[in-house]
Amino acid sequence: MTYDLVIRGGTIATASDVGKADVGIRDGRIVSIADRLTGGDVTLDATGRLVLPGGIDAHCHLDQPQAPGLASAGAVMADGFRSGSISAAFGGTTTIVPFCVQHRGESLLAAVEDYHRRARGEAVIDYAFHLIVSDPSPAVLGQELPALIRRGHASLKVYMTYEALHLSDRQILDVFEVAKREKAIVLIHAENHEIIGWLATRLEAEGRTAPREHAASRPLPVEREATHRAVTLAEIAEVPLVIVHISGGDPLEEVRRARARGFTVIAETCPQYLRLTAEDLDLPDMAGAKAMCSPPPRDAAAQASLWRGIEDGTIDIVNSDHAPYRFDAAGKLRAGPRAPFRKVANGIPGLETRLPILFSEGVVGGRIDLQRFVALTARNNARLYGLSRKGTIAVGADADIAIWDPERRLTIRNERLHHNVDYTPFEGMAVQGWPETILSRGEIVVEAGALKGVPGRGRFLEQTTSSAYRRERGERSWI
Ligand code: URP
Ligand code: ZN
Ligand code: ZN
Ligand code: ZN
Repeated sequence: MTYDLVIRGGTIATASDVGKADVGIRDGRIVSIADRLTGGDVTLDATGRLVLPGGIDAHCHLDQPQAPGLASAGAVMADGFRSGSISAAFGGTTTIVPFCVQHRGESLLAAVEDYHRRARGEAVIDYAFHLIVSDPSPAVLGQELPALIRRGHASLKVYMTYEALHLSDRQILDVFEVAKREKAIVLIHAENHEIIGWLATRLEAEGRTAPREHAASRPLPVEREATHRAVTLAEIAEVPLVIVHISGGDPLEEVRRARARGFTVIAETCPQYLRLTAEDLDLPDMAGAKAMCSPPPRDAAAQASLWRGIEDGTIDIVNSDHAPYRFDAAGKLRAGPRAPFRKVANGIPGLETRLPILFSEGVVGGRIDLQRFVALTARNNARLYGLSRKGTIAVGADADIAIWDPERRLTIRNERLHHNVDYTPFEGMAVQGWPETILSRGEIVVEAGALKGVPGRGRFLEQTTSSAYRRERGERSWI
């Protein structure tokens, strides 16, 4: 047998197995996994290396037009599909799922067409989109959404906060009803909008506007209440639900309770909640804005709760929530060098650092094994979001592969990263393990620190039905 490419001598890890074998690739797919494969047009020596499925980052924001009324209004996203996908690839990720946002009064179909245009010709790796529904009008619920879901846009996000995006409970139920009928998977941003508004107004009246007050305006109960309400709405509608960016133990407990009642609730966290705390919001000269995301980073106890959730299986997926606002006047400080927290764009970058941080803290740190690492960062996202040929190393799968040096130690520095953001919230953090050679559908896209993939080679992926719908209600076997 001949191959376009053979990866020799590495240790392969999937969500279920770890073992030494060679990988044979032809026409973009994995066609053979066996010992001592020969006959590759190209052979990569992976001795001493880990051969992992490329990561799937199923929560990132790229080139997202901002609605008026958001804290981020006017702050442009520094990464589009080109720099965002390049940065992702350098960090070992081979599929991204950013968000296509519908603004109020706008057609969802028009938003999707616009977002396809933004992606076209840009990405170096494959991508799908989640649809953010901010205006569930009769036309959207009755025609546009069902048509889009049938066309492979099979995941939606709804918001319980942010002035221009949040839906009422009744509107959320309307969206859930369509999602259930069409078998789309819904993600929800769970924070209580009214409490945040009340607290923020009070803080502002007291002159408390520094970045650290962002955390004071969205304490953990704000997230716990909304998570409880979100899963309650999902129970009423009998629809599976993904709770994104969980920041601490209380909302995680709500997930556990809902599961104990028999409902399918999927839990996501992000590296920032494992590594940052509210103290990072309290740095001088507005530097705290570099850690400002929603929900905000919490404390050491929250971090410990999240790690427990990762270890005991409560947390299913770890994504970046990459939101590429620069720190300078084009981004976070758009409202001035002393901008009050309410005028600072929420969100932080992390596409390129997600996998190295979780690998270093999780696998090297002895908290999770390699299989669990692959499940959390690739395989579970593939199943949950209907990315059928992604997230594993198996015959027939797309040859989306990251070859890692598990021994490589380095310090995260923004100058090493490939995004267009002018900072990383993880500056100075030491990690062990880094992805070196990245393949997307069998093509080398990153090698020896250099970009090899051509922008535009990345393809749009039509999603199939989420595995959350393929099982009996209540079973955790969607994974
Ligand atoms: O602060 C955040 N997380 N910004 C990005 C948008 C979102 O809510 O996911
Ligand atoms: Zn489309
Ligand atoms: Zn969110
Ligand atoms: Zn997000």
